[in-house]
Amino acid sequence: MPKKRILSGMRPTGKMHLGNYLGALENWIALQDEYQNYHLIADYHVLTTNLSTDEIYSNTIEMVTDWLAAGLDPQKSPIFRQSQIKEHTELFLIFSMLITKARLERNPTLKEQVRDLNIENLIYGHLGYPVLQAADILLYKGEVVPVGEDQLPHIEITRELARKFNSQYCQDAPIFPEPEAKMTNFARLPGLDGQRMSKSVGNTILLSDSPDIVIQKLKKAVTDPQKMRKNDPGRPEVCLVFTYHKKFNPSEVPEIDTNCRSGVLGCVDCKMKCASKINEMLAPILEKRKSYENNVNKVVDIINDGEAKAKEIAESTMIEVHQKMKIG
Ligand code: TRP
Repeated sequence: MPKKRILSGMRPTGKMHLGNYLGALENWIALQDEYQNYHLIADYHVLTTNLSTDEIYSNTIEMVTDWLAAGLDPQKSPIFRQSQIKEHTELFLIFSMLITKARLERNPTLKEQVRDLNIENLIYGHLGYPVLQAADILLYKGEVVPVGEDQLPHIEITRELARKFNSQYCQDAPIFPEPEAKMTNFARLPGLDGQRMSKSVGNTILLSDSPDIVIQKLKKAVTDPQKMRKNDPGRPEVCLVFTYHKKFNPSEVPEIDTNCRSGVLGCVDCKMKCASKINEMLAPILEKRKSYENNVNKVVDIINDGEAKAKEIAESTMIEVHQKMKIG
């Protein structure tokens, strides 16, 4: 049995935080032996919410450095920029004929963004965000897409576009798979203030944070507001730091639960335990990151190499698409 193909990606937002890691990256790394992985840097997608291109390149390098430091192996998992493979825009155009405006306006992820970013005049390309994403995935015939939960509506649109193309142009033999989303088993990790983790809010822990910074950041994390003094009994179920323990320190969770409730464990000690677990996890990533920071050309080479591999697949898919459409 040939390995199934994974296609997943992220917009280049710069350094990765723990939420990016748990939401997708950790999964990509875990799945790179079982699947054939391709990982895309969605640089054109950035334009949907920010027309300034000044930081796209540096953010791309920072992001890829973190991907590699965290354990993505570029031999197994080619990494490439969407903008450098022209077939993305070509398939995007074709797909944009196969979906209605009303369908795109119903997309809950878009509605959420319009609300959160206070968008009054929606840009045409932003409405078409999931159409480009569908092109990203289907150009590589991605069958599995490991992403965070916010991406599910986009994957649903990808499935619809695959079906539509297949039924419109490939009565004999469909060419596109209907990809499945694969979520991590850990739900969204909240930020240090208990809100959604986001760099713009400044409530993140970065994969590249030094041990001291992790400690400082955790000191400021919110806990159970009713636990005011060290020996007050606490309620782990409402405590953010407890959520972090569940992820980063699972073996001590029962003990922390008991000792927090009884008041034996104070928040400061509890936070320090958590910080040291996170630092343990980050140590090898930091170490590996340094080697890439000292050799940025290596990161650039890896991307170029990934682009050559991606290009081959993209070209062959477009040949098929044109044949099926009797164009060319
Ligand atoms: N929309 C994704 C995000 O914001 C990024 C993305 C673009 C993507 N193209 C993709 C993810 C294709 C998976 C597959 O994170």
